[in-house]
Amino acid sequence: MRKPIIAGNWKMNKTAAECRELIAALAPKVKDATCDVVVCVPFTDIAAAAELCRGTNIAVGAQNVAWADCGAFTGEISAAMLVEAGAEYVVIGHSERRQYFGETDKTVNARLVQALKNGLSPIVCVGEMLADRESGKTDEVCRTQVTGAFENISAVDAEKTVIAYEPVWAIGTGKTATDEQANETIGHIRSVVCELYGKKVADGMRIQYGGSMNAKNVAGLMAQPEIDGGLIGGASLKADDFAIIVNAAK
Ligand code: 13P
Repeated sequence: MRKPIIAGNWKMNKTAAECRELIAALAPKVKDATCDVVVCVPFTDIAAAAELCRGTNIAVGAQNVAWADCGAFTGEISAAMLVEAGAEYVVIGHSERRQYFGETDKTVNARLVQALKNGLSPIVCVGEMLADRESGKTDEVCRTQVTGAFENISAVDAEKTVIAYEPVWAIGTGKTATDEQANETIGHIRSVVCELYGKKVADGMRIQYGGSMNAKNVAGLMAQPEIDGGLIGGASLKADDFAIIVNAAK
């Protein structure tokens, strides 16, 4: 049995003061959750979030991590910095980073190595563009992204990693993959993990769905056997909505 994991990806939203308000409102609403609960906040919110989440069942994550320990990498944040600030998780390879900031499978892999080396729990994002789905390339794109991300990653480390399947056409569009589409592609991703690491790792790996997941569609998605949780953007910015999603993930 895989324990579901619901993670909010706040993207570039909420100042530290707003972060405190949201977590203060959220914590009592999710205190009885049976899934893992994570909020992936902007870098400048991590310390505040960690302080407010201490003693709760909410873990804090970052939204990216540098591929180097330290050095001349202007604008980057290292894994050690994230850990010291209180992050336990980190999102890697989100489609917005791939689209707008030149993230590639190679850099995703390098960031994943760095996260694992420093004891962060990675959430690696993969997913196809609309044109890929329409031309029947969904499985191929996901296969390439998963294979690239996990290059030279050991089975022991792969086991600690969560994958988020996020079809790019479903992100922020209000257009969700159907329950069956999400389940089918996640099943395919699991089969790729099985080819890379064998059945035990594949069966144990948690694979989330992301893309316009909300309080209304969570039950249908979570009822699918391959879907182990969600990576939630817009709906994670409201305590009530995010709590409904968390509490539906059993
Ligand atoms: P939305 O839930 O806003 O569609 O965003 C999904 C996402 O990109 C989470 O990482």
